[in-house]
Amino acid sequence: MDIEPLKLAALAELKGAADLAALERAKGTWLGPHGKFTALMKQLGALPKEERPAAGKQINQAKAELETALSERRGELELKSALPKETTDFTLPGRRRSLGKLHPLTQVTEDIVRSFRKLGFAVADGPEVEDEYHCFDALNIPPDHPARDTQDTFYLNLADAEETALLRTHTSPVQVRVMEKQRPPVRIIVPGRVYRRDNPDATHNPTFHQIEGLYVDRRVTVGDLKGTVEFVFKELLGEEIRIRFRPHYFSYTEPSFEIDFSSALTRKMGKEWLEIAGCGMVHPAVFEKVGYDPEIWSGWAFGFGIERIAMIRYNINDIRLFYENDVRFLRQF
Ligand code: DAH
Repeated sequence: MDIEPLKLAALAELKGAADLAALERAKGTWLGPHGKFTALMKQLGALPKEERPAAGKQINQAKAELETALSERRGELELKSALPKETTDFTLPGRRRSLGKLHPLTQVTEDIVRSFRKLGFAVADGPEVEDEYHCFDALNIPPDHPARDTQDTFYLNLADAEETALLRTHTSPVQVRVMEKQRPPVRIIVPGRVYRRDNPDATHNPTFHQIEGLYVDRRVTVGDLKGTVEFVFKELLGEEIRIRFRPHYFSYTEPSFEIDFSSALTRKMGKEWLEIAGCGMVHPAVFEKVGYDPEIWSGWAFGFGIERIAMIRYNINDIRLFYENDVRFLRQF
């Protein structure tokens, strides 16, 4: 039996297959059930008994060689067919993936935080699901205060809660939570989401954002408060803006003020002064609740709405635009 010429012919055909289809055909011709090599195996039986083992061995070796050649060529051809059919033009302009942006409220918040950091304030936070004690009682807000009405506050029905749970209506409870845990001095700001039962309109939304500030130390004055607020607002909205303090009432500060803000923008909006924040000197009753001695410690606090500031800064006339996630709006900032 002369296997060698047959094997060489088979190898040549397998190795020379131009594509995968040609390779499959060559495989059929030689190694398939009706292939020429398969036929050789069948002829073994006709050989004299003593020649059979040597011939069988030779055929098996050749077959193994053919199988190897087949799988090597298949690998080459598969790789070739996976490559691009046309050459790549590396001089073509690239396909850009557009970068995302921070939401305008996030940008304003980050800028405010950056200004306060320069003055040594640290960011603190607290839970959005609050209890009545931290949201109201600890802030000296009496049980019959209208803000505590179910008309104004979202109360939650949590079966396992020991206290009445609610969605915080302001970031002020975080003042109390921080003072409960930390001895003075305290210098914190608290950006966060708050909730009120308001119907949405151009200036109201049931959820919005506030920044709370709290500063406690020895001999802190209203002058410190005014200087701090002025510094931050000028950084945020420009040197030419003005602020003024107007007497007001909050149960957790005494004296209390509202901060009014004036700029070319507010004048364009048809108003000289626009109220933007509440503030005051921390009430002694609040200090007593957290175990600070009001004879030793003094401090101020403020709270303002982030949306308000963003609306002034970017000249936005409807608060609801912030929550609609319309990219045509968001792309502008
Ligand atoms: N919590 C007040 C509000 O939501 C804002 C405020 C007023 C915060 C006076 C304060 C403050 O810290 O001292 O309208």
